[in-house]
Amino acid sequence: MSPTLSFPLNEAVSAILAAGVPSNLSSPKIGIICGSGLSGLSASLKEKFEVPYESIPGFLQSTVQGHKSSLAFGFLGDVPVVAMLGRFHPYEGHPIQETVFPVRVLKLLGVEKLIITNAAGGLNPANPVGTIIVINDHFSLPGLSGSNALMGPCPPAPFDMRFVPMSEAYSLEMRKAAFKAAHQLEFPREALAEGVYAHVSGPTYESRTEGRFLASLGCSAVGMSTVGEVVAARQAGLDVLVLSLITNAVIVTPQRSARDEVDKEIRGETIEVIAKEEASHEEVLEVGTRKAVEVGRLVERVVGILGGKY
Ligand code: HPA
Repeated sequence: MSPTLSFPLNEAVSAILAAGVPSNLSSPKIGIICGSGLSGLSASLKEKFEVPYESIPGFLQSTVQGHKSSLAFGFLGDVPVVAMLGRFHPYEGHPIQETVFPVRVLKLLGVEKLIITNAAGGLNPANPVGTIIVINDHFSLPGLSGSNALMGPCPPAPFDMRFVPMSEAYSLEMRKAAFKAAHQLEFPREALAEGVYAHVSGPTYESRTEGRFLASLGCSAVGMSTVGEVVAARQAGLDVLVLSLITNAVIVTPQRSARDEVDKEIRGETIEVIAKEEASHEEVLEVGTRKAVEVGRLVERVVGILGGKY
């Protein structure tokens, strides 16, 4: 599919419904996008019905370890939801416009509120690994510099808003629901924080200077996903909540000095042995998997709070 030429939205919706989604699940009001290692949420879905992405026109396949590739319908508590188990990233080689196609399909299925989870690097020492950040704003380097998911021709209505504002992108009502949910679940206060998501294209993890740059802007979390989905969701009029699980601390300290070490060697001084500090996908997945239950419980409770309105 060319992002500029065709948007097989109706075909995608028809294929999903034709796959046999039970009628009590086929028009969910809440959609969920599960991040790296966080698809375990699907285990909590009651009466679950999965539609593989490969059977949906316009959907791509996730190529990332830790991501599945299916759309799961089911009840979280007693609220019907649809969860994307696996998402698409431009770094996999997909045009950013295509990665947000599923968000529009969720809208056409009836979704009004979207909950997005992701794994992210931590930029604020006050939010250690394991903290869940409730995102209240973003800084998108790709979006600012020519790789915005809304570039190109507008899809048909209701996705035809040309200039979409971002200053109120993250619903206050939904953010409050996240903090209420954490309170109800008796999470320790420091388990949840608020902050800004820095969006980078990846797939490299940040250099030290890049990390410092993002931290200096006041960003708390950095990741390679989510913002494309947020802008498409806002264009579609969906309310959005983003929960970022900090899976690793971004290394921001300046690199050790080769010259200083040579000078020390020349003076016969001992050189401190320092282990290499590097982010890894294994660490991201390990923390994601370890914390998936907590993130899942939070999402389920948020859905319970918001779902009372349907
Ligand atoms: N940087 C960017 N994306 C990420 C990171 C990170 O450190 N951790 C998980 N996703």
